[in-house]
Amino acid sequence: MLVNSAKFVVSALKPEQYPRDRRPEFAFVGRSNVGKSSLQNTLLRRKELARTSSTPGKTQTINFFDINGAFYFVDLPGYGYAKVPKSMKDAWNKVMVAYLQNREPLRMVAALVDARHAPTERDHHMLHILEEAEVPTLIVATKVDKLKRSQRARQLALIRRNLGIGDDGMVIPFSAVTREGVRELWQVVEDLL
Ligand code: GTP
Ligand code: MG
Repeated sequence: MLVNSAKFVVSALKPEQYPRDRRPEFAFVGRSNVGKSSLQNTLLRRKELARTSSTPGKTQTINFFDINGAFYFVDLPGYGYAKVPKSMKDAWNKVMVAYLQNREPLRMVAALVDARHAPTERDHHMLHILEEAEVPTLIVATKVDKLKRSQRARQLALIRRNLGIGDDGMVIPFSAVTREGVRELWQVVEDLL
């Protein structure tokens, strides 16, 4: 995909604030700090379009990015970050679920899991929400650059098994550092456009 333009459009909390032009949307979910914003910046070749941080909980609203005037990337708040008050987590969660369950232009959700760890309870919960909402979902295993060669196959197999992904299901290994997985992810997006 040739990215000619990538622009931040709106930071939304309510459906009234979402874009109204019905262009296709691709959303990114996963626990706090898993690398959602970094992945989007990497795909778009923009350094800090989606704000990243080593402090979990950076993204707190639904951020829409207009790509080539043709479709949107949607950066969602991370879940599972322990250090914010429960009331705040509940509020973020509501915002996110409202978006995922009722968004007609939503073509696909990339669900990110950290390649180094087994998927969490919260990851399973999110996948359940996506399944219920019947949104096409792609699993992406992030930060694969942090795995040693010897760990790699084992970790990816563990993730597949843990999430019940059969031989025909896709798990894309990804790294914002080495750009591994960029081509594969764009291919999926292009196929859905
Ligand atoms: P929230 O907005 O808090 O939910 O986090 P996020 O999922 O958007 O994560 P973000 O992209 O901000 O990245 C979190 C941290 O992980 C940052 O310090 C990134 O530099 C780092 N990181 C992200 N992707 C990678 C990767 O592929 N490899 C390595 N080594 N570090 C990464
Ligand atoms: Mg983020």
